[in-house]
Amino acid sequence: MDLQKLTKTVQELFDNGKGILAMDESTQNCNKRFAKLGIKETEESRRAWRELIITTPNLAECIGGLILYDETIRQKTALAHNASSARNALRSDADGHNDAGGDGVPFIKVITDVGIILGIKVDEGLKDMDGHPNEKVTKGLDGLAGRLKEYYDMGARFAKWRAAFTIGSNIPTQDCINENAKILAEYALVCQEAGIVPIVEPEVLMDGSHTIEKCQQVTKEVLQTVFKELTVKGVVFEGMILKPNMVVPGLACPAQNSVDEVADATVKLLIEVVPANVAGVAFLSGGQSSELASAHLSAMNANYKKRLPWPVTFSYSRAIQYPALEIWQGNDKNIVAAQKSLYHRAKLNQAACRGEYNIEMEK
Ligand code: 13P
Repeated sequence: MDLQKLTKTVQELFDNGKGILAMDESTQNCNKRFAKLGIKETEESRRAWRELIITTPNLAECIGGLILYDETIRQKTALAHNASSARNALRSDADGHNDAGGDGVPFIKVITDVGIILGIKVDEGLKDMDGHPNEKVTKGLDGLAGRLKEYYDMGARFAKWRAAFTIGSNIPTQDCINENAKILAEYALVCQEAGIVPIVEPEVLMDGSHTIEKCQQVTKEVLQTVFKELTVKGVVFEGMILKPNMVVPGLACPAQNSVDEVADATVKLLIEVVPANVAGVAFLSGGQSSELASAHLSAMNANYKKRLPWPVTFSYSRAIQYPALEIWQGNDKNIVAAQKSLYHRAKLNQAACRGEYNIEMEK
């Protein structure tokens, strides 16, 4: 295992207050989001949306890494946005064969040309857990090493695997937590052996009416089990990123907590259960509004600056993409305005990584 290579990847991802933008929604999830806005649920719509994201001017100032989905990592721009990178793409094949086709530039090239690190979702989604109604385990270990090799050769340097835990009556069970933790650890080890930094994402979902204390209790059980299994497998903490949920009340909980209370509960728990030598903590947004996701992250960095042993940053999908998606609506005329919104949200989250976000910046 080349630990130096892994730690270098993490340093570059989070350099200068940067974070990660997740654009790795499965086809089904991406379509669901499009359907809500009346955007066509086609491969071309998904391609066009992802093209809009990756061609956002100056995105690399605040985004160190992009997480793609298998469909997306193989896609190309419709038209050359940047004549010189398009020409380079066309020139890149010594046989004169134009793999890019037409005017399209491979997304991989667009991303790496601006210095953003390529990441890839490698889990294959959730399936029902046998004998455990309402609980899920994550699929995708079969053939993982081979897929990672292909992605590495395409330029991917980090990967993501998500496990999801629902809080409900008598769930999550310890069996479900144990099973997912073992799978996450196996995935993380295979990634590190392939020269790819694993993002380990055990998400405790916000769905439900549970309190912040309940979220804290479940998140603690989950993280403790995950780190136990990572240790058993021999995953090197300096070469991995944890992508946790924040400690928040359920979306339907009548008692919603203040920004400082969420920051407090989250940081205290993480300091208790996350080893100090983990390379980075990059939160998911999980259904929080864009403003709250920025405010919580900023409060953690501002209030606990000296006590955080790891970079505390973001790996948001919805909290960065949603405002821009609502502007875009699948219409080319809205691309520039949507890109401005996307850049603005990414920039605000960079400020949050420095503990410098405030609501006035929303204007
Ligand atoms: P959200 O920020 O929308 O929770 O998505 C993060 C993610 O990558 C989910 O796996």
